[in-house]
Amino acid sequence: MADGRADAEQRARELREKLREHNYRYYVLDSPSISDAAYDRLFGELLGIEEAYPELVTPDSPTQRVGAGLPTTFAPIQHRVPMLSLDNAFGEAELREWDGRVKRLLGLAADTIIEYLAELKIDGLSVSLTYIDGRLVTGATRGDGVQGEDVTPNIRTMRVVPLELRAPATTGALPDGGDTPSAGAPPLIEVRGEVFLTHAEFARINAANEEAGLPTFANPRNAAAGSVRQKDPTVTAGRRLDAFFYAVGAVEGCAFDSQQHLLRTYSAWGLKTNPNLLLCPGIDEVLAFTRMWAEGRERLPYDIDGVVVKVNSFGLQRELGFVSRSPRWATAYKFPAQQARTRVLDIKVQVGMTGALTPVAVLEPVALAGVQVARATLHNQDEIRRKDVRIGDTVVVQRAGEVIPEIVEVVTSERRGDELAYQMPPECPACGARAMRPDGEAVTRCPNPACPEKLRQRLQHYVSRDAMDIESLGGKRLDQLVSAGLVRDAADLYGLSAARLEPLERMGPRLASNILEAIERSKTRPLNRLIYALGIRHVGEHTAEVLADRFGTLARLRAASMEELRAVYEIGDTTARSVHGCLREPATEDLLARLEAAGVRTEAADGGQRSDRLAGKTFVFTGTLTSLTRQHAEQTVKRAGGRVSSSVSRATTYVVSGESAGSKLVRARELGVAVLSEEDFLAMLEDEPRTPAEA
Ligand code: IVH
Repeated sequence: MADGRADAEQRARELREKLREHNYRYYVLDSPSISDAAYDRLFGELLGIEEAYPELVTPDSPTQRVGAGLPTTFAPIQHRVPMLSLDNAFGEAELREWDGRVKRLLGLAADTIIEYLAELKIDGLSVSLTYIDGRLVTGATRGDGVQGEDVTPNIRTMRVVPLELRAPATTGALPDGGDTPSAGAPPLIEVRGEVFLTHAEFARINAANEEAGLPTFANPRNAAAGSVRQKDPTVTAGRRLDAFFYAVGAVEGCAFDSQQHLLRTYSAWGLKTNPNLLLCPGIDEVLAFTRMWAEGRERLPYDIDGVVVKVNSFGLQRELGFVSRSPRWATAYKFPAQQARTRVLDIKVQVGMTGALTPVAVLEPVALAGVQVARATLHNQDEIRRKDVRIGDTVVVQRAGEVIPEIVEVVTSERRGDELAYQMPPECPACGARAMRPDGEAVTRCPNPACPEKLRQRLQHYVSRDAMDIESLGGKRLDQLVSAGLVRDAADLYGLSAARLEPLERMGPRLASNILEAIERSKTRPLNRLIYALGIRHVGEHTAEVLADRFGTLARLRAASMEELRAVYEIGDTTARSVHGCLREPATEDLLARLEAAGVRTEAADGGQRSDRLAGKTFVFTGTLTSLTRQHAEQTVKRAGGRVSSSVSRATTYVVSGESAGSKLVRARELGVAVLSEEDFLAMLEDEPRTPAEA
């Protein structure tokens, strides 16, 4: 037994070392050498050992990222060395001035060349991580620079943050091609850097929030800040926060001689640094770097808002010192804003699929961040009034990230007096129906279920790829069928024939038969696609999947009461009301009846049988199931009215534990949540229908 324990201890150490190494390769070097599955296996093995010998668990074990289960306290943390901010330089002239000032302060001739390190200015939030003897002890926000907030449990969930600094190898392939500096982790260091979210992760979080009826974030920086300042670390753990480290606060027992040396040492310790930097022999090279990234920023997967220029030598930095809260040895060069001026030629109203009437400014085309912009959204009447946008106005337009350009402000000094104030028309521009604006809503809508523009938008949505995927009816082709009077709504598609299609312009028998085949194929799309294709307000792809899983057939979904809809996890009040209302409209009833009559499948592939036996129960799966796939198991739970979650909390009813179960099992034990084996789980669902999982 004693031997077993010794072996286990040895193996646990090896596994931790391996996992740390793979994390480093994945996050810092960006070149993983094993698959995710292989990583998970090593992780599972370590968990197994730690479960058998809980006394072997170390605080910096990779299994301990969300292990402690403590809420974030936000208690004040005094920074040992204050976190400074940077002065800004706008434009090239100001940057040259700064370079001149640096030399003057150092008593150097104007033609002396100073070595600068130019880095990207990451648009996130800064944090300070304290490592003692190489172990992460606290993570804090910047706060007022002197005192921040303790967000350690959240920082620990970030896999990009090493819980323990690596001892550097003797030779090194660092991201910038340099050699590994030979320094072990010091007794104490405050590591500073920026936490941020990639565009993709930002979009994922917002899409998930939107579907869950939660507020969305305005930009990746707000989302990153919101994720770091979370009370519940399991929420933070579910968001893939990223980070770059670029500065140092207090440090003991170790010295750096330059910014470049600092960054190389960080990389060697396993702290991720940004590879896009340049050691510049003078300000001209810095300017070339800023010009390159003013354009290049578009291609980065995260936001930057400028370039930070630092005097490379720490010796010179010390000589230069600080003024108030900013160092004299660094400055932030801000990119010119992605804004342009142009004129509003007209304001038009667009009718959306759900009848939303959106005012859109038609602009004199203008180049903005590399693309021609000819339209900008005005959102709604309140927005037009707030910004006082008039036809003929000169306006500032801006592109923020990937969203459609918007009007920032009117240049009132350019007004000539003949601009026309705009009022949204009282009727729908497409059908003339009186527009309605429900109390408390900003959006005006066309209430006419037969509005031709609404029908056209709905049809476009119905045939779109993520809905019923009738590929040969993209864009113009569908409009052609509508104008020819052959289709008015989705059900009409199924009544088309070669005889009707062939006489159309640019059609011919071949294309006609392709279209008919594509329409035929759409009859057997999974139920969730059909529900999504109906274009019900607040029902995105994910919500459609949830509804299909729960109700199994369109008939059952239509029969569901408000209470039944609201009882479905992830379906909020607004969505429930929208689904309930829409499915009871006579126009929808008629459409659905005709779709059904045309042979469109309206039940899930498993026949749609559902029960309520797991209603109100929440399951978490961990480890590998052997007799069914994870997806299959989750579907079975949802079909019986249960809920599947990815993290264990007090709200979890059961954790189903498969082979090489992960940290969730540990957490379940800590919280006293009931744990089921795969056999227990199968027995519980013995007479539930379990057909193969569908796409
Ligand atoms: S150096 C004393 N380097 O910009 C110098 N800051 O306005 C400390 N930032 O609070 C900062 N990228 O949040 C530095 N490569 C970079 C940076 C960077 C982003 C942020 C940081 C800081 C702010 C200064």
